[in-house]
Amino acid sequence: MRTVEWNRDKVCLIDQRVLPAEYRVLQLETPKEVAWAIRDMAVRGAPAIGAAAAFGLALAARRSPARDRAGLWRDLEEAAAVLRAARPTAVNLAWALQRVLNRVAAESDPQGMRAAALAEAQAIADEDVAINRRLGEIGAALIPDGATILHHCNTGALATVDYGTALGVIRTAHEQGKRVHVLVDETRPLLQGARLTAWELQQLGIPFTLIADNAAGHFLRTGQVDIVLVGADRVAANGDVANKIGTYKLAVVAKENGVPFYPCVPTSTIDLSTPTGDDIPIEERPAEEVTDLTFRGKPIAPAGVRVANPAFDITPHRYVTGIITENGIAYPPFTVTLKRVVLSTPKRNKDAAATAPSC
Ligand code: MRU
Repeated sequence: MRTVEWNRDKVCLIDQRVLPAEYRVLQLETPKEVAWAIRDMAVRGAPAIGAAAAFGLALAARRSPARDRAGLWRDLEEAAAVLRAARPTAVNLAWALQRVLNRVAAESDPQGMRAAALAEAQAIADEDVAINRRLGEIGAALIPDGATILHHCNTGALATVDYGTALGVIRTAHEQGKRVHVLVDETRPLLQGARLTAWELQQLGIPFTLIADNAAGHFLRTGQVDIVLVGADRVAANGDVANKIGTYKLAVVAKENGVPFYPCVPTSTIDLSTPTGDDIPIEERPAEEVTDLTFRGKPIAPAGVRVANPAFDITPHRYVTGIITENGIAYPPFTVTLKRVVLSTPKRNKDAAATAPSC
């Protein structure tokens, strides 16, 4: 199945909290349950949470008892606010909700609004898969045969509706018959690399080696990495990139060692209304995510320690070689080239980002 899909009036998700030990599918019946799944990271990754939120709004439309347009609109706005608040950094979440609201706003009666909400959510999900395939083709052109690729977090099928972004590039290169090897950062504290990326690569038969996050600098300095590929949760207008905590360190060390560093993003992750990385909200997550690991059966930290747990960091654009999108690769100066790749997106997406709901 896809990571997120609509099935018989429910939102179905692969529960990413329990992989790889267990493959479990959640069936969600209310927008509040979808918001919970996003917050608790049962579903995660910027494109996947965007699609999940869009389906959450379709659920809200289905379940609302409202019989008139104004009542249904109120219920949808309320549900959108709950979903939007679930995670603050990935712009795809707000983008997808706005796109569904814009489509619904064009309808004149509740029946049309309900149908439109689901149709738009489904379109977002279907387009995500097609976008990732295109992005994969474009990015794979940068991967030489025999390349070793350093990858952070999880950007595969699980982080999207299907196929993946940075991992999609790697997958395309592999499908093209190139021999690639992936160094998989474990990605503390929630171990998306060790748990999810390793699981996906294993299923795809793509050779990889799991490394502790702290080892990445060693591999970069000793010439064992040809290219660094990551995803992103939001790209600011100047090319600053918000991505999983630890990305900034990788980018700096990559530049120091002359290794190219490319975030791979659908254009829905590029937020031209956010001028710089300093304007991107960084999600702070619960302390238990850092402390609730065990080492030889015992907690890894003394009880009651103070913890800081920012989920993302900002990589300033000077460390970014280029940004791979489904519309081509943006190179510096990003203030010019990011506009170009966003504006070459098919019209429907642009409208969604630009139009305020009119109810
Ligand atoms: O906290 P997460 O696991 O949702 O963070 C995910 C990432 O940082 C990914 O790199 C990003 O969302 C891009 S996924 C295609």
